[in-house]
Amino acid sequence: MLKLNINGTERQARSAADTPLLWVLRDELNLTGTKFGCGIALCGSCTVHVDGLAVRSCVMSAGGAIGKKVRTIEGLGADKLSALQEAWIAHSVPQCGYCQSGMLMAASALLARNPAPTDADIDKEITNICRCGTYGRIRAAIHAAARVEPPKPLVGAAVGAVVAGGVK
Ligand code: FES
Ligand code: FES
Repeated sequence: MLKLNINGTERQARSAADTPLLWVLRDELNLTGTKFGCGIALCGSCTVHVDGLAVRSCVMSAGGAIGKKVRTIEGLGADKLSALQEAWIAHSVPQCGYCQSGMLMAASALLARNPAPTDADIDKEITNICRCGTYGRIRAAIHAAARVEPPKPLVGAAVGAVVAGGVK
């Protein structure tokens, strides 16, 4: 039995520890906001946060998340929409919507580390793919959210490898 901390709640799953986290989230825990796209860490539709970092859950084992804090799109702004989510709505970012939960998770992780990213920062760090081509509106929404929540000093070395990562 796997014990996982998902969106601040202890959850249990029967899957083997080497099952991709994505399938535990979707198939066992019914957190279907996280999407399957490629299954090989390319598209970013499966992006979640693990201890605050954007991670592609299709290539992370569920066992690897034991003892860590996992956040999915269902846990983002669960009580109140974040400035980023408000900006997403204001800029009408989604088209078909399929990539958008992964985009929001990648963008929120970026803003947590870099509260005022440049276009170059965004392109470098959010490599998620949007087949509808919403990249320009994603950049605009990230900049708008950064203006609402002004930059704070970075604390410690919270910078780590961001697996999700450059809006094209
Ligand atoms: S499903 Fe495409 S990166 Fe995970
Ligand atoms: S909004 Fe359709 S794939 Fe991104």
